Formats: sequence, structure tokens, C-alpha cells
Amino acid sequence: MSILVTGGAGFIGSHTVVELLERNEKIVIVDNFCNSSPNVLDKIRDITKKDIKFYEVDLLDEKNLEKVFKENDIEAVIHFAGLKAVGESVEQPIKYYHNNITGTLILLKLMQKYNCDKIVFSSSATVYGKPEHLPIKEDFPLSTTNPYGSTKLMIEQIIKDVCISNENFSVAILRYFNPIGAHESGLIGEMPNGIPNNIMPYILKVANGEYNTLTIFGNDYDTHDGTGVRDYIHVVDLARGHLKALDKIRKEKGVQIYNLGTGKGYSVLDLVYMFEKVNKVKINYKIGPRRPGDISACYADVTKAKEELGWKAEKGIEEMCKDAWRFIIKQSKK
Ligand code: NAD
Ligand code: UFG
Repeated sequence: MSILVTGGAGFIGSHTVVELLERNEKIVIVDNFCNSSPNVLDKIRDITKKDIKFYEVDLLDEKNLEKVFKENDIEAVIHFAGLKAVGESVEQPIKYYHNNITGTLILLKLMQKYNCDKIVFSSSATVYGKPEHLPIKEDFPLSTTNPYGSTKLMIEQIIKDVCISNENFSVAILRYFNPIGAHESGLIGEMPNGIPNNIMPYILKVANGEYNTLTIFGNDYDTHDGTGVRDYIHVVDLARGHLKALDKIRKEKGVQIYNLGTGKGYSVLDLVYMFEKVNKVKINYKIGPRRPGDISACYADVTKAKEELGWKAEKGIEEMCKDAWRFIIKQSKK
């Protein structure tokens, strides 16, 4: 039987595929490359020395997605495919709701039809909205401030309802904090299209001279240096969390929800200084106004994942900065 990985050519999906292949799991990837490139598949083959079964299919294309279920015996789905740019989701909400929600509904419908009853879903710390306390626990109140976040919250609810309707269903909802870094081979990493929204891809473009200056969005937050604090997690640690979640839902039915973070918060300036120190490059920055919708600080309570999955993040912020930069250097040498 195979694990279907939707969005397996993307940033987190590709790193998870590597970990799955290294554990000799049989996998099938579905991706439409709307935010990734086919050459990621070659890189995965280079790293793992294994062949990959791949379908270039859009989740919205039910007919071709059904072919994937017909031609493979799918045991479980790890569902990464989705659009993820917060700002774009505010400008184009219909595109986000359609892609993320309709895509998931079609996927769930086919899972039901082909008796596939296990799913790991990529949710996000964004579903906690503006948390009243830190660190954030899984049972904190949920709310969102933008259409992207709303798609995550709605999909969580849809999956929970499917679970209620089918007692054989088992689900792991994983709420990621801030994934950064890259595979230590330097072959796969984060490659956003266009101007990056997120901090690390932006730092990388300043480091390699593509952009002059990083704008830090506000230095008047109630944090140790005034800049925003986040729980950055190495993408390889995050990927490994998916294997633990898969093990869990193979054993237990029902809905399990886990925060995947390190439990530690670093400010924007902490991250910039660490990047400069470990990679010996200068990051020019200036302080700009706060970005609308940003919260001052966000980091996870990771006790539940540790106790119930036997998982915790192993890699520190130094390694995240080094690995992210190694990936960029390797790209530029090609
Ligand atoms: P990514 O954009 O690199 O990967 C998503 C992949 O899904 C891409 O390869 C894209 O081409 C594919 N895709 C999108 N819509 C599709 C569709 N309709 N049909 C087929 N393929 C489709 O993003 P990522 O950073 O790897 O994120 C993976 C998941 O994790 C997403 O659901 C995202 O919302 C979620 N997430 C990401 C972060 C983050 O900061 N990176 C944080 C929290 C949650
Ligand atoms: N920041 C800057 N300058 C930039 C980009 C970001 O100062 O050019 C700051 C932000 O203000 C914030 C921190 O860097 O304080 C991190 O910002 P990111 O955009 O990298 O990450 P966010 O925490 O805002 O959001 C990310 C994803 C969301 C996801 C959330 C929680 O973009 O989709 O993590 O997982 F929901």
C-alpha cells in the first residue's frame, strides 16, 4: 500500500518525501507545480537514490485525481497541497477558498470512495489568531484574521466532521509554527515564486545581493528587542514529525491535533544576527512600520507532540540559518 503525498514537490512536502523514502515507505506524489518545480523530483531522487511515483494533477481535477486512487492502493494521505500566501489570500479570497477547500473536499470524497481512512493535514499556528497567553497549547481558542487562515480552520472542521461520520477514520492535524532551513544536502529548500512574504526567504535574497535591504516590520512590540518573536522550526524536524503522526494514526482512530514547533521564540533581530554570525554575511536592514495583521509573539507548547508522538525538534536556529544559506549557494553555483 502507498502513502499519497499531495503537494509533495513543495517546500515541506519534498522534505517529508525524503524522510518517507528513507524509511522505505511506498509513496505516490501529486502536485500541479503551481508553487514548485518538476526538478525538485530529480533532487529527491538524487538524495534518496530511489525512484518516485508522480502524477502532475490538480486536486481540483477530480477525474484525474480519481485515476491516482484507481491505479494505486492508497493507505493514507499526507495533505500538503494548498496556497499559502497570506497577503495574496486577502486580495484573491475566492482563489484561496476554491483551491484549498474545494481541493480538500474532492480529496476527502475520493478517500471515502476508495476506503482510504487516514489523513495527516498541514494546518498552521495561524489558527490561534492573536493568542492571549504563551506558549500556545492545542486547546487554545481558535480564530483567524485572513482568508488563508480561514481555509485552514475550515478544513480542520471539515476533517473533524468526516471523522465523526466514519468511526474508522483517523486524522492528525499538524499545526506548524515557522518552518525554515533546508535539507543538509543543499539540494532541496524553499523556493518561493515572486517577492517573498516570509522572513527567511527575504533574508536569503538580501544575503545573495538580489535585494539591498530587509525591512523589519516594527521594533516597538512588547518583546525583548521590540521586533516580532516566532517559533522557527527546521523543515527536516518538521518533516520527521509527519512520520511520527503517520505512525500514530496507523494505531489510533479519531482526531489528533499537534503543535509542531521548537517551543522557543526568536525575534527578527535574533534571526538576522544569527544568520550573519554563522554564515559570515552581512544583512542590511532598516526598521519599517508594523505589518498589518502581525502579532508580537508566537511560540508553541510542544509537550503534547513530545508525549504522544515521541517527537521533538532537534535542530537549532544556527543549523536552520546554515542549511538555508547552503541551499541558496548551491543553487547559484549551478
Ligand atoms: P509550498 O507552496 O512549497 O507547497 C505546496 C505544494 O502544493 C506546491 O508544490 C504546490 O504546487 C502544490 N499545490 C498547491 N495547490 C495545489 C493543487 N490544487 N493541486 C495540486 N498541487 C497543489 O508550501 P509549503 O511551505 O510546503 O506548505 C505546505 C503546506 O503547509 C501548505 O498547506 C501550507 O499552507 C502549510 N503551512 C505552511 C507553512 C509555512 O510557513 N511554509 C506554515 C504553516 C502551514
Ligand atoms: N518580517 C519582517 N520582514 C519581512 C518579513 C517578515 O520583519 O520582510 C517579520 C514579521 O513581522 C514577523 C516575522 O518576521 O515578526 C516572521 O514573519 P513571517 O512572514 O516569516 O511569518 P509569520 O509568522 O508572519 O507567518 C508564517 C506564515 C503563515 C503561518 C504562520 C504560522 O506565513 O502562513 O507563519 O505558522 F500561518
